Amino acid sequence: MTLFGTQQINSAGHLEIGGCDVVDLAVQFGTPLYVMDEALVRSNCRQYIDSLRERLPAVEIAYAGKALLNLALCRIMADEGMALDTASEGELYTALQAGFPPERIKLHGNFKKESLIRMALESGVGRIVADSLVELEELSRIATEMGKTAHLLLRIAPAVKASTHAKIMTGQEDTKFGLGIRDTAKPGVKLAMELPGLELHGLHCHIGSQLLDTDGFKRAVDVMIDFCADIKREFDFEAEQLDLGGGLGIRYQEDDIPPSIAELAQVVADTLKASCEARGVKLPELILEPGRSIVGEAGTTLYTVGVVKHIPALRTYVSVDGGLSDNPRPVMYDAIYRAVIANKADQDPSCEGLRVSGAHCETDMLIPEIALAPPQSGDILAVFGTGAYNYAMASNYNRFTRPAMVLVHDGEAELIVKREALDDLLRQDVLPERLK
Ligand code: LLP
Repeated sequence: MTLFGTQQINSAGHLEIGGCDVVDLAVQFGTPLYVMDEALVRSNCRQYIDSLRERLPAVEIAYAGKALLNLALCRIMADEGMALDTASEGELYTALQAGFPPERIKLHGNFKKESLIRMALESGVGRIVADSLVELEELSRIATEMGKTAHLLLRIAPAVKASTHAKIMTGQEDTKFGLGIRDTAKPGVKLAMELPGLELHGLHCHIGSQLLDTDGFKRAVDVMIDFCADIKREFDFEAEQLDLGGGLGIRYQEDDIPPSIAELAQVVADTLKASCEARGVKLPELILEPGRSIVGEAGTTLYTVGVVKHIPALRTYVSVDGGLSDNPRPVMYDAIYRAVIANKADQDPSCEGLRVSGAHCETDMLIPEIALAPPQSGDILAVFGTGAYNYAMASNYNRFTRPAMVLVHDGEAELIVKREALDDLLRQDVLPERLK
């Protein structure tokens, strides 16, 4: 069994994370519960920063907050010297409320409303990643009106098809994101250079997510540096910064073998240096925006096992007290997770062909087929690799309350997101007088 970060099996045969017995955490905080391994989050940040700094003169690592964002996580990122990628008013607001240095914040989005643009300019975010010609016009108008300068990167769709799930592939030509490298990208550069209130610092691309090899990154670097050479020749514009987005995958299943952070750094740095040299382009500052590979493996979700239903000669369903509302990824992307019964972590997974199901009024399968130690009602099931795009995509479907999240480190567990209460579900409801 692959264990992540500080995970280990303790003398009681229980799963332990950050020095905390997760069975105790389930008792103390209730389930479902997201458990975040602080040491692993921090060490992933350091690996990105160190392995790129070793190889390139100027780098910035911007954590992609869409994977998971809350006040505590913002503080950890700031503390680790990370920058932060935000993609909505809510993410930007969270970062600002956490006191994240605005100059280290980037703002993304294929459709940024005026209120969001104003919020970004007002707070002084470091970079706005412009996504379209229309947006450049909007940014110029609003920045001029506000007497501000919008510091930009331009998002390019580089026509690089990454190998991943179709729903998380974004660098191909047929995408809503960015300026197409074969059509609007050059007019975009020209416009960004000409319009008042704008200052263009460089280019951005993001080819996809959960990438398990470095091929796409290599191709993206080559395409983007080719484009840099073109715009240098045509517009005398030299990109100071090149942002390659995020995308490095994690180990959801035993046979998912993503490149390590160091391997990715090596490939990107080597390709970038070679590509710049071959095309006579000045080496830009490299920006990466990892999300999943920073927090994914650091998150574990704890559930309580409820009904175990045996259908003779067919299948056994193991129901847990969460599902679709705290992890929609199996349903959305056919994602497969690994799990262990946390209070039987030292036992052989002798029961095969089990199906872990959620508690929603849906066929919300959490894990289609898994082998576990014999499951019983009351057991604690720990599902691995849930730190990214789980809480971030959680919902109140069936009026489930969203779970709590704890940060574990050195034997201590601190609550960083409270469990929603039933009254939280009513907070936004308004009962008109005539219905009272
Ligand atoms: N930068 C940009 C512009 C992005 O769009 C994304 C992810 C990232 C960085 C971070 O990518 P990462 O390092 O996390 O792969 N909900 C989906 C993933 C959507 C990713 C969207 N963009 C999932 O659960 O798989």
